[in-house]
Amino acid sequence: MTIDIGHDIREIAGKDVLALRRELAEIWPDASRARVDEILPRHVARDGFRFLGAFAERRLVGFVYGYRGGPGQWWHDRVATALGPDGEQRWLAPGHFEFTELHVRTEFRRRGVGGSLHDALLEGIDAPTSVLSTQTDNEPAIALYTGRGWQVIVPYLDFGSGRPFLIMGRDLR
Ligand SMILES: CC(C)(COP(=O)(O)OP(=O)(O)OC[C@H]1O[C@@H](n2cnc3c(N)ncnc32)[C@H](O)[C@@H]1OP(=O)(O)O)[C@@H](O)C(=O)NCCC(=O)NCCS
Repeated sequence: MTIDIGHDIREIAGKDVLALRRELAEIWPDASRARVDEILPRHVARDGFRFLGAFAERRLVGFVYGYRGGPGQWWHDRVATALGPDGEQRWLAPGHFEFTELHVRTEFRRRGVGGSLHDALLEGIDAPTSVLSTQTDNEPAIALYTGRGWQVIVPYLDFGSGRPFLIMGRDLR
């Protein structure tokens, strides 16, 4: 797919994602080393893992990924507790998709890359719902998601870092 600023969005197979770790760490400056070196390989191995990169010529300028969530996963279990039984049934039904990360290189933001990555990731995903977390003060991300049909389903959740997050959900069917 080509978008208006001449960038390509391409799906990248799990085995090739780990080779991009250096570029991913540049685009994702908040990520700890553990996130890129330990958590990412775990996510790559998950059921339904799907990763897309946005490229300007050969340079990676943004990425998005997600996978099928399920019980026993750290993020899933914390969100399930926060949602309670009814919310869990509504948003975390078997086969739901966790929209895990979306990042665009700073100098390429506000040019449609993030929105295109978002849309391309969810296109063709066969899941009842998708869920994500973002910081409660992350205005760009919240604006992007709200404009694309996501709703806040847990307004406040501290995953232990002391930084408040909110959880959003979107129906996919
Ligand atoms: C959030 C992020 C991915 C958006 O990427 P982007 O390429 O700038 O997004 P787009 O240009 O495609 O914009 C899509 C929509 O997002 C919203 N948006 C993006 N940046 C915004 C900003 N700074 N302020 C307000 N709204 C903004 C707008 O609604 C925009 O729609 P528009 O076309 O009407 O302007 C990018 O800011 C980023 O990488 N942030 C750091 C990482 C992050 O916070 N990721 C999300 C964590 S879950």
